[in-house]
Amino acid sequence: MSKMRGPIKIEASLACASVRHLERDLRELEAAGVDCFHFDMMDGNFVPNFALSFDILKAVREMSDTPVVCHLMIDQPERYIERTAALAPAYISIHVEATRHVQRVLQQIRAAGIRTGVALNPATPPSVLHYVLEDVDLITVMTVNPGFAGQRLVPSTIGKLADLRDLLDRAGHTSTELEVDGNVSFENIPQMLHSGATMLVGGTSSLFSQTQTIAQATAAMRKLIEDAAVMH
Ligand code: DX5
Ligand code: ZN
Repeated sequence: MSKMRGPIKIEASLACASVRHLERDLRELEAAGVDCFHFDMMDGNFVPNFALSFDILKAVREMSDTPVVCHLMIDQPERYIERTAALAPAYISIHVEATRHVQRVLQQIRAAGIRTGVALNPATPPSVLHYVLEDVDLITVMTVNPGFAGQRLVPSTIGKLADLRDLLDRAGHTSTELEVDGNVSFENIPQMLHSGATMLVGGTSSLFSQTQTIAQATAAMRKLIEDAAVMH
């Protein structure tokens, strides 16, 4: 049975946008009507790679009013909540694997006036969130190991998504967003939607695929969302 629920939001992963032509890509994404920007920050420690920084976030916030989801792939994210919050993203999502004090960091984010997110690596079970559901507005389900674009889906994460949807529903947290991040391809989107995802992060697998324009890829994603809703 489908666990789909709306409204579904399309997010553009800015780490996959053109570094040379970032503003051009932002304008194309805005024109295509994506719902938000997904902003990956990596510290070379929690993940073996570096990605977007505060300066780029500041520039994005100055260039566009599109809401931003900050995905912090950094160790001890508590060190950087204030700086991130000062740039007024819609959400800050931290990894449960990156801090000893998940609930405290979530409180820190809320105290800064920002909606909270928690991200789970593929091997991390949903049960770690059981006692913090009150503190969470969005769950980022990593459907690949974080750190790099262009990877293949870890298949077990689809079942985990459905388990998280059940956990949220049973606990009465029906409006908590379930974000899927990694290999959100045209092929994988239907099963992600039917497993309860509400926010789709489009990276090299869809919005930035090179085989079609951002406008075409966004339209194709919208079509898949409509089709899944009809089947629902
Ligand atoms: C990691 C990033 C990537 C991004 C890349 O947190 O956010 O996973 O979505 O998208 P794909 O997997 O489509 O290249
Ligand atoms: Zn991400």
